[in-house]
Amino acid sequence: MKDDITRPNIIITGFMGTGKTTLGKRLAAALGYEFVDTDELIVARSGRTVEEIFHEQGEAVFREMESAIAKELGEKEGLVISTGGRTMLDPTNAAALSKKGRVFCLVARPEEIMERLSQDPDVCRPLLDGPNPMERIVELLRERQEGYARFPQLVTSGKSPDELVDILLEIIQQDSA
Ligand code: S3P
Repeated sequence: MKDDITRPNIIITGFMGTGKTTLGKRLAAALGYEFVDTDELIVARSGRTVEEIFHEQGEAVFREMESAIAKELGEKEGLVISTGGRTMLDPTNAAALSKKGRVFCLVARPEEIMERLSQDPDVCRPLLDGPNPMERIVELLRERQEGYARFPQLVTSGKSPDELVDILLEIIQQDSA
């Protein structure tokens, strides 16, 4: 990240259901930053749900939309950006978004992810839309482990969103002091 940035973006990554959006919104409010969720931006711009894009146009088209947004947001400042679960695992997206910001990766156990996703039935995750979502979560986590491990980790287990915001604020403020 360059030194002349006064309001560095905060980028939240991590697997589906780790609480990126909930945390991102609260952190943005605490910092007085604008909140952006990459999935929500894709949905707003395309007029389609993530599920519709995956089913009607295919995952590759979704990933292109994701990359275009990463490139665009990477030029801005003063944002808290909650990313889709795979956005930051693409090195080009990660480079674009890291340019003016710092990244944190939320971590949760598969059981907690499953529990959180089942509490959010309105949002469909096409990648988990099969006969055994728990098995798929474990499989995808294993595949993605190395990619997520590149970013500073924040373990969410047993912590409320507000506690997590406080932890992040402390880290952010310590580093900018
Ligand atoms: C995906 C995560 C989703 C969404 C899409 C694909 C992934 O976002 O981008 O369903 O590949 O991990 P959330 O992490 O916000 O659920």
